[in-house]
Amino acid sequence: MRLTVVTLFPELIDALFGCGIAGRARDRGLVEVACVNPRDFTHDPHRTVDDRPYGGGPGMVMKVEPLLAAIEVARREAPPGTPVVMLSPQGRRFDQGLARGYADLPGLILVAGRYEGVDERVMSAVDQELSIGDYVLSGGELAAMVVMDAVVRLLPGAVGDAMSCAQDSFWEGLLDCPHYTRPEVHATGRVPAVLLSGDHAAIRRWRLQQSLGRTWLRRPSLLAERVLEPEQESLLQAFIDNIDIDSPDGG
Ligand code: ADE
Repeated sequence: MRLTVVTLFPELIDALFGCGIAGRARDRGLVEVACVNPRDFTHDPHRTVDDRPYGGGPGMVMKVEPLLAAIEVARREAPPGTPVVMLSPQGRRFDQGLARGYADLPGLILVAGRYEGVDERVMSAVDQELSIGDYVLSGGELAAMVVMDAVVRLLPGAVGDAMSCAQDSFWEGLLDCPHYTRPEVHATGRVPAVLLSGDHAAIRRWRLQQSLGRTWLRRPSLLAERVLEPEQESLLQAFIDNIDIDSPDGG
């Protein structure tokens, strides 16, 4: 997969691919990363990429010409079928389903805006607008990094144990179950006995029940969007029946 980021700050993107899963994916050749800097497409001595807004008001607006020229170069170098995605709080909300869809594409061009906004005419070259949440960042770079991290870890071979991706929160539209490792006993509590039992069927049921229960407690709207299978229905009902109302997490 080829990821291209149109950004004034390529060093931010380099940080993501310098370590961790994203870094390893690049080292293994699973993902190719390129940045195109709109500043390289300016023609004035100050290499100006922003200007005052028409109509007045505070802040600066990113100029149309350098951004469109940068997107054009990114498009030319991208594989066919690569969409241009603008990061902005006005976009569709990013989620795991979109991450999965992007991971199947040959490439992605992510356009990170800066300053107070981007000249609206840049949208003529954009296929989709994408938001990572209802808050305003100072630029699209962090949002682009969030999207790339979520996508790259889904590429086959990026994560050591493919099952760990399959069991992530949201993979099945449910929140993740709790996890434990050694020590078995700690001042803050002990590991649930079922996880030490070696009974794989019971462990699977417990994990599924915890996922259902957590989702019911913390993100009930996710459950409203799905039809539960009979086993899931009864596990969730048992969780609700046994809930400790004094515990914030039903523990
Ligand atoms: N740029 C600024 N804020 C953003 C957000 N919440 N999502 C995506 N891009 C952004």
